[in-house]
Amino acid sequence: MAGHLGVLLAVLVLAGPLCCGCPPRCDCVPQQRAVSCQRRRLTAVPEGIPTETRVLDLSRNRLRWVEPGDLAGFPRLEEVDLSENVISALEPNAFAGLQSLRVLRLRANQLRLVPAGAFADLTNLTLLDLSENRIVILLDYTFQDLRSLRRLDVGDNDLVYVSHKAFAGLLGLEELAIERCNLTSISGQSLSYLRNLVTLRLRHLNIGALEDQNFRKLSNLRGLEIDSWPSLDYVSPLSFQGLNLSWLSITNTNLSSVPSASFRNLAYLTALNLSYNPISVIEPWAFRELVRLKELHLVSTGLSAVEPRGLGGLRQLRLLNVSSNELVTLEEGAFHSVNSLETLRVDGNPLSCDCRLLWILQRRRTLNFDGRTPVCAAPPEVRGNTLTAFSDSALFDYFTCQKPRIRNRRLQQVTAREGQAVSFACRAEGEPPPAIVWISPQRRRITTKSGGRVAVLPGGTLEIRYAQVTDSGTYICIASNAGGNDTYFATLTVKGHPLVDATLFGNRSFFASDLNDTNLNSTRVFLKFTLDLTTILVSTAMGCITFLGVVLFCFLLLFVWSRGRGQRKNNFTVEYSFRKAEGPTTSTSQGGTRKFNMKMI
Ligand SMILES: *[C@@H]1O[C@H](CO)[C@@H](O)[C@H](O)[C@H]1NC(C)=O
Ligand SMILES: *[C@@H]1O[C@H](CO)[C@@H](O)[C@H](O)[C@H]1NC(C)=O
Ligand SMILES: *[C@@H]1O[C@H](CO)[C@@H](O)[C@H](O)[C@H]1NC(C)=O
Ligand SMILES: *[C@@H]1O[C@H](CO)[C@@H](O)[C@H](O)[C@H]1NC(C)=O
Ligand SMILES: *[C@@H]1O[C@H](CO)[C@@H](O)[C@H](O)[C@H]1NC(C)=O
Ligand SMILES: *[C@@H]1O[C@H](CO)[C@@H](O)[C@H](O)[C@H]1NC(C)=O
Ligand SMILES: *[C@@H]1O[C@H](CO)[C@@H](O)[C@H](O)[C@H]1NC(C)=O
Ligand SMILES: *[C@@H]1O[C@H](CO)[C@@H](O)[C@H](O)[C@H]1NC(C)=O
Ligand SMILES: *[C@@H]1O[C@H](CO)[C@@H](O)[C@H](O)[C@H]1NC(C)=O
Ligand SMILES: *[C@@H]1O[C@H](CO)[C@@H](O)[C@H](O)[C@H]1NC(C)=O
Repeated sequence: MAGHLGVLLAVLVLAGPLCCGCPPRCDCVPQQRAVSCQRRRLTAVPEGIPTETRVLDLSRNRLRWVEPGDLAGFPRLEEVDLSENVISALEPNAFAGLQSLRVLRLRANQLRLVPAGAFADLTNLTLLDLSENRIVILLDYTFQDLRSLRRLDVGDNDLVYVSHKAFAGLLGLEELAIERCNLTSISGQSLSYLRNLVTLRLRHLNIGALEDQNFRKLSNLRGLEIDSWPSLDYVSPLSFQGLNLSWLSITNTNLSSVPSASFRNLAYLTALNLSYNPISVIEPWAFRELVRLKELHLVSTGLSAVEPRGLGGLRQLRLLNVSSNELVTLEEGAFHSVNSLETLRVDGNPLSCDCRLLWILQRRRTLNFDGRTPVCAAPPEVRGNTLTAFSDSALFDYFTCQKPRIRNRRLQQVTAREGQAVSFACRAEGEPPPAIVWISPQRRRITTKSGGRVAVLPGGTLEIRYAQVTDSGTYICIASNAGGNDTYFATLTVKGHPLVDATLFGNRSFFASDLNDTNLNSTRVFLKFTLDLTTILVSTAMGCITFLGVVLFCFLLLFVWSRGRGQRKNNFTVEYSFRKAEGPTTSTSQGGTRKFNMKMI
């Protein structure tokens, strides 16, 4: 008992001379020289705060403004918390004399404007929190004296504009967060003052594109977070130029493909988070520049395919998180090498447990599934089984594929006339469903993705529109899946019209050499426009004779020349321009310049 009293006395004696009492409505911790007046309905800084105070908490009161004199009497202050008041104005020099101040919190007030000089003198400040205010604009030199500031939070304001020199003087800033404001762009120039910035977080902004070199001067930046930019759908290839990031996170945006081109400058990136973007396919080599990447997250992106070599180039990949997607499979061929992989999250995907997943199964005891073992969604016999539930002997009963078989192998030998449409069927069965590729006589691969005059329809049928003599030859259909492949041949002979037979002005005499639709379309328009006899007559009557004359003369010259050199095909380009209709002299056309590649046959 006496001992306790003694301790108490000693504390009182020690505390006594330091403390000059405590304001009536506040709690004081004399040893720490801390005064807490939280939630006391104060409308002004209370009387009686000891001058020695180091930590002052005035949060959750009803303070309206901070004037120069308010805190001047406490030169030892190191931390001041003014959060959750109704402060709407800061005077210049509001915190004058507080050279020891390290932490200043002004979160959740009603500040609209921070006058230049408001933070004058705060040369030792390391943390400033201005979030959840109503600041509309950050003026030049607002933070000029804060050369020790390491962390600045201006999130959740009504910011519309950040002036170019707003961040001037923030030489020590390491972490900056800007969120929930109405900024429509991030100016590279205002960020350029933050030479020592290490982490930049930009959340909940309504910016639609990342432009070139926004971050160019931030050579010390290591982490960049871009989260919840619902309208972001474009990342310029040069947007990360000048940066040397070790982690990058672009999440909850409207990006529909991996912004591969912009990764070129990120050779030191080790972690990338692209979760919650509508990215449905990972194209081959999408991450090839990220040679040091160790962690890749693509959670809930609606991902439905990782194409062969989709993760090509990621030779150090240790963690892949593609949980909650639409993946039916994840083939070993998608990886650079699966040997570096330690952790794999593929749960929450409709996985088909066939031979394509055998590689995961074989590693199921060493691979870390982060507590979420993948579950089979197909075939029906094993639906609902987790991958770890299979015994070694069961592997070859279930995890199998059925090699493709092309049905209906009737020989297809077709003779067509030039200009006709031709198609060859190639239907294949197999498990998983085989992919069909056709090889042209010129050894060109034609897939369902190659658009244009020669294309593969979803059922595997090869379709050739406007057959040309050069299309003649043997076509090979290859049906392949993880189980193997099957091939099949078809031959086409296209009979050309000798040119003398054709009317020179008929639209069969010339064909677009391009195999893509856009040009085919415009070429057809062009042919209709120039070479149809009626059009020529009408055009002549309307005064277009010079233009058409020149075009036809060229054609004739080339025709004669090509005859002279035998049957070789010649490509040439016709470029012409015509003006928008100004008077009755021009016909139906729009204005502009057009360029066409033509092939003479
Ligand atoms: C500012 O901080 C430095 C190091 O933290 C310290 O040495 C210096 O005394 C501080 N200045 C004042 C006026 O408190
Ligand atoms: C910012 O946007 C929000 C909603 O999008 C709107 O309510 C607010 O008025 C805007 N502020 C300014 C300063 O434009
Ligand atoms: C996202 O992109 C799609 C088309 O790609 C568009 O329809 C949609 O409006 C975009 N969303 C936003 C918020 O911009
Ligand atoms: C980039 O950062 C890494 C460390 O993350 C460092 O080793 C490398 O030298 C830096 N490269 C440049 C060009 O600054
Ligand atoms: C990736 O980003 C999402 C959304 O911002 C976040 O929830 C998740 O924690 C991030 N993952 C990692 C590993 O940082
Ligand atoms: C994978 O992503 C989910 C969702 O963001 C997250 O909860 C989980 O921690 C991540 N796993 C790993 C290993 O990063
Ligand atoms: C077809 O399968 C054989 C082995 O069965 C293989 O050698 C060949 O490379 C495969 N061809 C294609 C195009 O996949
Ligand atoms: C040109 O082709 C169209 C259809 O593509 C046809 O209707 C028209 O008769 C052809 N004109 C000539 C002169 O052959
Ligand atoms: C179509 O042809 C034009 C001009 O020849 C070319 O610039 C364009 O890339 C081609 N498009 C495709 C999808 O091949
Ligand atoms: C070609 O023209 C047709 C109608 O003229 C149009 O519907 C189609 O979208 C066009 N295709 C391309 C690729 O421009």
